[in-house]
Amino acid sequence: MNESFPIRVEQRGAVAVWTIDRPARRNALSRATLLALGGLAREAATNASIRAVVLTGAGDAAFCAGADLKERREMSDDDVRAQLDLYQSELGALDRSPKPVVAAINGVALGGGLELALCCDLRVASAHAELGLPETSLGIIPGAGGTQRLPRVVGEGRAKEMILLGRRLTAAEAIGWGLVNRVAPAGASVVDDAVAWVRPIAEGAPIAQAAALSAVDRALDVPLDVGLALERVSYEKTLASADRREALAAFAEKRSPRFEGR
Ligand code: COA
Repeated sequence: MNESFPIRVEQRGAVAVWTIDRPARRNALSRATLLALGGLAREAATNASIRAVVLTGAGDAAFCAGADLKERREMSDDDVRAQLDLYQSELGALDRSPKPVVAAINGVALGGGLELALCCDLRVASAHAELGLPETSLGIIPGAGGTQRLPRVVGEGRAKEMILLGRRLTAAEAIGWGLVNRVAPAGASVVDDAVAWVRPIAEGAPIAQAAALSAVDRALDVPLDVGLALERVSYEKTLASADRREALAAFAEKRSPRFEGR
């Protein structure tokens, strides 16, 4: 465990695998962890060898247990405010990443851990994963975007149920609520499963994927007519790409396209 940069980075083909490596604290989000995540997200944005990111936690107990409550105990109120700013800037960098990010939820995702997963574009859970926002039971509220991102994914009523009742969902419940996209087969590594599952992204057209992400990311924030205008702006980015012409040529030649992100 490297406390100053507590994330293990690995490249599997075109997929970067980032593992929060603090198992003794159930991969809780220390200040250094947030800074490392934000730094990696910014670097990945311009790294052409990364087509997708799978984010996970070390071990099989926890994806991430949220705020580092031991670090938090030493903090003044102003320190906590600074930490909330860091959640916004660093997890925001992950949320806004032009590269698709998949949370491979290998165990519990609680509090900031679930909020971290909500910053990802897709979520795959192991069969034993549990997801919840227990903050109100600790006398606080979700402070890393949970009150805003959770209702956008599961709807207002279900978000209030999770936040006010402190309800934890099993993986099976989470898929029923649309909180995760997929549950890995029991006994399988959720990271291996997620890497295999995102192969269509890793082999796909990166300009189109980034354009689609930016359009969909705005969909729930703006009126439909504004959203449709944003979709046109995003579409325009694909029109001039060599990848679009390659897809048309590949179709005519009855072969698979080879996308280069140009
Ligand atoms: N911050 C710092 N340390 C944490 C932590 C957190 N959020 N969550 C767990 N840890 C530490 C524990 O203090 C313990 O350390 P110790 O061995 O020095 O006592 C170690 O991780 C293992 O925790 P333990 O509870 O024994 O593991 P578990 O696998 O049985 O349970 C959790 C894991 C995550 C379910 C449980 O630790 C928990 O509920 N943690 C708090 C989660 C939370 O409320 N997060 C929201 C914060 S807003």
